[in-house]
Amino acid sequence: MENKVLEFIENENIDKNLVAGVKKYIAETAPADEEAGRIPSPICFYYGKEVWEQALSALLSSKNLLLTGPKATGKNIFAENLSALFERPLWNVSFHVGTDASYLVGTDTFDGDRVVFRKGPMTLASEKGGFVVLDEINMAKNEALSVMHSCLDHRRVMDIPGYRKVDIVPAARFIGTMNYGYAGTRELNEALCSRFVVLEMPVIGENDLGRLLRFRFPGLKDNMVSQFSKLFYELNRKAEKGEISERALDLRGLLDAIDMMALGTGAGAALDMCIANKTFDPYERELVRDVIKARIPGDLRAENIFDSTVIA
Ligand SMILES: Nc1ncnc2c1ncn2[C@@H]1O[C@H](COP(=O)(O)OP(=O)(O)OP(=O)(O)O)[C@@H](O)[C@H]1O
Ligand SMILES: [Mg+2]
Repeated sequence: MENKVLEFIENENIDKNLVAGVKKYIAETAPADEEAGRIPSPICFYYGKEVWEQALSALLSSKNLLLTGPKATGKNIFAENLSALFERPLWNVSFHVGTDASYLVGTDTFDGDRVVFRKGPMTLASEKGGFVVLDEINMAKNEALSVMHSCLDHRRVMDIPGYRKVDIVPAARFIGTMNYGYAGTRELNEALCSRFVVLEMPVIGENDLGRLLRFRFPGLKDNMVSQFSKLFYELNRKAEKGEISERALDLRGLLDAIDMMALGTGAGAALDMCIANKTFDPYERELVRDVIKARIPGDLRAENIFDSTVIA
């Protein structure tokens, strides 16, 4: 099976030693065939050479990686890219205040006949050498996190009361994500934090944003690539200066809006729904709308935005 992410990073001029390290890992790691369906096919590549290099050097030296940063900086997309690159099955654990240790490691259940241990995602990934995304890890209670201490440090073991000791196979990797911008998020417990190397995810650079837009929307006209990029950075600047809150600043929203435009929604309505309406303060919403209108006329339609050849 071709490895598109490997091809991608080779074209990105990522440090040759790191690429060689990835190839060695793949060659030396037994494929987890029965879990092949868990190897992700990301909807797009992660764009950002520096982040790639930092993450690869951490993962190749068997570190656990914590991706931190504001919303929509590509943390989950990047984790999927990494798992696809290393050709490993991915288990995703979404943390919330109710996540407890038994959800992570597994629990006894009755299968109609007898009590059996149903393995949780941490146990499965630890045995099969998978990648585990510990999504929004800072949302979890300490009780759930303490079980992971021995997994994440040099011991690399999970001792499950009443079950057995699970050694974490060398191929397994743990990738945490954490967004400190959202309401309700917490600081990460210090003991846990010290078991990760922390990669601060930057806002996508201008050149990379242009490439992402062209990849996601191959028919997007050149001038629209430029206008949408400028709009994104203008909102970014206003949020940095505190003129608008960060609610409206959202690459996810911009991509969603362009998706809707491709399906025929007018630019004004699409940008309202996906960007401006995410701010609930009427004054601020008008400010955001003004920034949008100055760049993208509200009455633009698919035929003005995309080359006619790609419009059905
Ligand atoms: N550098 C980047 N390269 C590729 N895609 C990116 C990049 N930055 C943001 N994106 C895009 O932004 C969108 C959101 O990405 P993702 O869900 O991975 O973000 P996140 O950081 O996990 O956000 P949140 O903190 O809100 O969960 C996706 O469509 C993704 O393609
Ligand atoms: Mg995320």
